[in-house]
Amino acid sequence: MTKKVVILGGGVLGTQIGLICAYHGYDTTFWLRSESSVGRTEPKIKRYSELMIEDLAKTKAVIGTPMGAYVYPRGLVADFKSATAESIDALIAQAKENFAEKIHIELDMAKAVKDAYLVIESMSENPEAKIGVYTAVKDLLDPETILCTNSSTLLPSMFAEYTGRPEKYCALHFANTIWKNNTAEVMGHPGTSEETYNEVVRFAGTIGMVPLQLHKEQPGYILNSMLVPFLSAAQGLWANGVADPETIDLTWQLATGAPAGPFKILDIVGLETAYNINQMKPAAQQEGTIENKIGKLLKEKIDNGETGVNAGKGFYDYTK
Ligand SMILES: NC(=O)c1ccc[n+]([C@@H]2O[C@H](COP(=O)([O-])OP(=O)(O)OC[C@H]3O[C@@H](n4cnc5c(N)ncnc54)[C@H](O)[C@@H]3O)[C@@H](O)[C@H]2O)c1
Repeated sequence: MTKKVVILGGGVLGTQIGLICAYHGYDTTFWLRSESSVGRTEPKIKRYSELMIEDLAKTKAVIGTPMGAYVYPRGLVADFKSATAESIDALIAQAKENFAEKIHIELDMAKAVKDAYLVIESMSENPEAKIGVYTAVKDLLDPETILCTNSSTLLPSMFAEYTGRPEKYCALHFANTIWKNNTAEVMGHPGTSEETYNEVVRFAGTIGMVPLQLHKEQPGYILNSMLVPFLSAAQGLWANGVADPETIDLTWQLATGAPAGPFKILDIVGLETAYNINQMKPAAQQEGTIENKIGKLLKEKIDNGETGVNAGKGFYDYTK
């Protein structure tokens, strides 16, 4: 029987995680809290599934080129070295079939998680919201179901006691544009069983990810321990009036050869997530601090609907 994976939350990352699971053959259910959530998630499923298929199609043009190994969608093509136009076409056909047949949306939480092998919580980075959902789901899960969080900044030990299954709970953290940036950081809390940890590592490999194992809890994991200070420094330069976002990005790109600068990355991450992360810093509540200025500037953009790539506008305009 095909294993069932459930995603709690259908936002930027939840949608991508669900799609990559369906792509790799898992029966995938999104649990969403309301009809209006369905109205927001369905277009994201459509958009990200189209982007995945577009990137697969583009792969055909880079087979055999020196750049190919750097740009192909690593989460979608397992064996790029021996890929051919025909093998990519077969992946596209399979992807279309899986996206059409293996994705379900469910508002009833009990129905959503019934018989689940693995449940991945990918809701807003808000501790109360996460605790609320863990409390609601804990008695509905099958005893064997593994529960993971995709939280970027909150530790699994903060939530373990609310899950009713601390030994079957750990973090499985993905990166945005999961089908290309196929990292999966696996991080237990002190009560995670070795069996669960190893199973989550194994699962990550089955959905085209490279499992990156952390030996202990670390706020921000490996990636965000580096990325968050980097993005904060860039936002500080902007909020302090030192330079505009375009110049800051250009500096980073020219000096390091990176394909994108911090403000382009912020647009991809989404300004709401950046805002939530900033507001968690105590200094953000104190008038006159740089964190407070960053919060106000981000809020202004969010209130204008400029929340990033998904909205068509963030620090850059994507409608042109
Ligand atoms: N955006 C990124 O680049 C990124 C990368 C890695 C991990 N993450 C993590 O993934 C998680 C989700 O982030 P996102 O960017 O997808 O956020 P998002 O704002 O795009 O989506 C959040 C989802 O949670 C739902 N939600 C919020 N409160 C809820 C509640 N009380 N009950 C039920 N559903 C609720 C929303 O409806 C939405 O579907 C966060 O924990 C974040 O730290 C995000």
